[in-house]
Amino acid sequence: MKTILVTGGAGFIGSCFVRRLVSRSNIRLINLDKLTYAGNPDSLPDDENHELVVGDIGDSSLVRDLLQRHQPQAVVNFAAESHVDRSIDGPMTFVETNVLGTCRLLEEVRNFWNGLNESSNEAFRFLHVSTDEVYGSLGDTGLFTELTAYAPNSPYSASKAASDHFVRAWHHTYGLPVLLTNCSNNYGPYQFPEKLIPLMILNAVEGRPLPVYGDGLNVRDWLYVEDHCEAIETVLTRGVVGECYNIGGNTERTNIDIVKTICRAVDRYCPDLPHTPCDSLITYVKDRPGHDRRYAIDASKLRDDLNWVPNTDFSTGIETTVRWYLDHSDWVERVQSGNYRRQRLGLE
Ligand SMILES: NC(=O)c1ccc[n+]([C@@H]2O[C@H](COP(=O)([O-])OP(=O)(O)OC[C@H]3O[C@@H](n4cnc5c(N)ncnc54)[C@H](O)[C@@H]3O)[C@@H](O)[C@H]2O)c1
Repeated sequence: MKTILVTGGAGFIGSCFVRRLVSRSNIRLINLDKLTYAGNPDSLPDDENHELVVGDIGDSSLVRDLLQRHQPQAVVNFAAESHVDRSIDGPMTFVETNVLGTCRLLEEVRNFWNGLNESSNEAFRFLHVSTDEVYGSLGDTGLFTELTAYAPNSPYSASKAASDHFVRAWHHTYGLPVLLTNCSNNYGPYQFPEKLIPLMILNAVEGRPLPVYGDGLNVRDWLYVEDHCEAIETVLTRGVVGECYNIGGNTERTNIDIVKTICRAVDRYCPDLPHTPCDSLITYVKDRPGHDRRYAIDASKLRDDLNWVPNTDFSTGIETTVRWYLDHSDWVERVQSGNYRRQRLGLE
């Protein structure tokens, strides 16, 4: 039986990773999550191989206790504040969790790893999940490679860049067996509806305006969340210690293109809505300060070294995602009403 300590596993990507691994009979998952607004127990499986522990990655004594008690063979760190707009409104939480929290976690993991016997010590891995946003913004051409210099532009990306540097430093200074992944924009089921794709799906269905920043021509590379989790598992099991791996979907789309694609899907699935065609709801709004123009990932290292390529093309992934939000009104309702947090607040 292998034990993995997952942090931030009640969020969008972490919960996908938990749902993916929990069905394997030989894996036990300890899921440390603070249950901020972005953490949702409704997204988690009820399974004897999965235990949710509500707590902070920056709580050193809690992390120490979990490591000692469960003796994991790996730690996968998803925990983060993750929304760029929130980082503009309130950057300090991003520094607290993404920078200090990651450092405190690294320090406890290092102490635990130092105490392992030789074979466990060699097999142990710490995988840090990061973003392509650390590389800054591209012009009309070019791709981010693992050698692209970091140039973060938002408080979110700066805090993730800092955490990546500390992860690297814990490897180079102390020898901690780390792996680092930098992924492009994810989409799929269970994403909190403040992010572009779920926000647009739900607003389109509900007949609310579809706010698009600036001219709508900012470009992102989109990856289906299950493909991201498969890539993380690939790096965790076969990645070279100390290495970084870019993960991307090779699917560049402008924001306005994404919104129009969603509108067409909602028009098709919900032809009786009074406000169709939904693209009549598109409303251009003042651009986000410091909005990066284009991100695009070169994921050839992961393809060539570890034989990973994405499985889900964008048209299939976006159809599945729109359908999922239409079919899971119970999950959506509990998020929109705030009821998903009642358990966290001790009300359930
Ligand atoms: N969403 C994307 O498109 C994307 C792309 C690339 C990389 N990433 C990275 O992947 C990771 C997961 O992203 P996501 O979209 O699932 O984010 P999310 O915001 O949906 O989830 C983050 C989770 O972390 C938890 N958390 C926050 N602070 C914590 C703390 N101090 N201690 C313990 N748990 C805490 C939250 O409760 C939540 O469950 C993040 O590190 C993010 O930077 C995200």
